Amino acid sequence: MKRVGFLTSGGDCQGLNATMRGVAKTLFQQYPDMEIYGILEGYKGLIYGNYRLLKSRDFSGILTEGGTIIGTSRTPFKYMREPDENGLDKVEAMKSNYKKWGLDCLVILGGNGTHKTANLLREEGCNVVTLPKTIDNDIWGTDMTFGFQSAVDIATTAIDCIHTTAASHGRVFIVEVMGHKVGWLTLHAGIAGGADIILIPEIPYDINVVVDALDKRAKEGKNFSILAVAEGAISKEDAALSKKELKSKRKKNPFPSISYQIGQEIQEKTGQEVRITVPGHTQRGGEPCPYDRVISSRLGAAAARMIIEGKYGYMAGLRNGEVVPVPLEEVAGKLKMVDPEADIIQEVKGLGISFGV
Ligand code: F6P
Repeated sequence: MKRVGFLTSGGDCQGLNATMRGVAKTLFQQYPDMEIYGILEGYKGLIYGNYRLLKSRDFSGILTEGGTIIGTSRTPFKYMREPDENGLDKVEAMKSNYKKWGLDCLVILGGNGTHKTANLLREEGCNVVTLPKTIDNDIWGTDMTFGFQSAVDIATTAIDCIHTTAASHGRVFIVEVMGHKVGWLTLHAGIAGGADIILIPEIPYDINVVVDALDKRAKEGKNFSILAVAEGAISKEDAALSKKELKSKRKKNPFPSISYQIGQEIQEKTGQEVRITVPGHTQRGGEPCPYDRVISSRLGAAAARMIIEGKYGYMAGLRNGEVVPVPLEEVAGKLKMVDPEADIIQEVKGLGISFGV
């Protein structure tokens, strides 16, 4: 008999349920009497001892369901070593519940922050297997995270919808895409949605180059333009500042997000009418796309195999289409960013799409 704890942590995304289903189905095939502890609301549940026993039937019908059936929360890694407001040692509490519940292993689904804490638990002696979750696709050691492709679909649909109205009105439109500190989501949705300008954090933009690209389109008789702007996009000027300088500059910034700043600058410099659309959390919502359902099922099955083989301390990752075990110490604390020199960037430039540089 095996007893395994499932935990989903950080921002949710499509494919969490599909992935847990993949792990559970594979495990139940091997151990029909196994017990799954659904640890509630991420690390919070592990710290404060909240779980729900999950049966085989709980995993039926959830392949297509967005969100997570066990809830999630953000419990930042940087505060994990700090006691809570009642003086509770969080790391000790997690280890103690792990032991008290008699778990053979923790299956942790999460992004970057989650992986840091998962690695900490591994270092503290817990058996851990992880799965790469995030719409940002920024987890080191895997080509793809589940959730990413579903979010690309939604952000692309947003850009598609903007196309018709932008053309009718002859306006400049900015679609602000999620992705935190990286530009994967914006890059892919921007290409798929036929954006004219793509601004991502990895390639700091020059607003004058953005304006030149817009003027060029106007001179060519193109009466509208679409910019896909990452929420983390940054100007060359700001990228040259120190962390401290940037923080203090941003404190005084009146704009709700970068797109509004860029929008105002474009309007002032070109006289063109600008509108901003921020699809926001819709990008994380709804059902996983078929691609995500496939990788979720594959990664889930692979994680289960690791548990069956007693191979702990790894993330199930995807490399060149194959599922591979990636050591947690290699994953934790690293960010997978877009390489500005990568082929994809050169190809996109070749299409005449501007990165504002
Ligand atoms: O990491 C996923 C993500 O959706 C990012 O793209 C975004 O910056 C962030 O989470 C938003 O976080 P929250 O849901 O806490 O507002």
